[in-house]
Amino acid sequence: MAELYREHILDHYQHPRNYGTLERPDRTFEDSNPLCGDRIRIDLKLENDRIADIRFTGRGCAISQAAASILTEMVKGKTLEEVKQLGAQDLLEELGVPISPARRKCALLSLKVLKAAAYGLNEWPT
Ligand code: FES
Ligand code: FES
Repeated sequence: MAELYREHILDHYQHPRNYGTLERPDRTFEDSNPLCGDRIRIDLKLENDRIADIRFTGRGCAISQAAASILTEMVKGKTLEEVKQLGAQDLLEELGVPISPARRKCALLSLKVLKAAAYGLNEWPT
């Protein structure tokens, strides 16, 4: 089972979903993990406070990049209010692998960037 979960991360790392940039994003934000300097940028296209389209670019470890890919699939079509309600645990569960405290920022960087882009709160999600 653990193998399958690891493959889920590897698959998103090697074939990231919604990778790239939007031509005229309504919102965009970029930030880095202070521990390693790895970066994620997220572009959003909004329609009636809903995420109509989303893209990310970045460079970093497999967990940070796979988490960003998985997150874009989770939130496409969601309202900004729903994004606000997303907690760290929601994304960590979707990753499907145990994340050690040392890797927590790797796993949550994309959610931090998404929340900052969506409604301007640039804090590590709890
Ligand atoms: Fe490699 Fe984050 S998974 S340090
Ligand atoms: Fe940099 Fe994981 S080691 S985000």
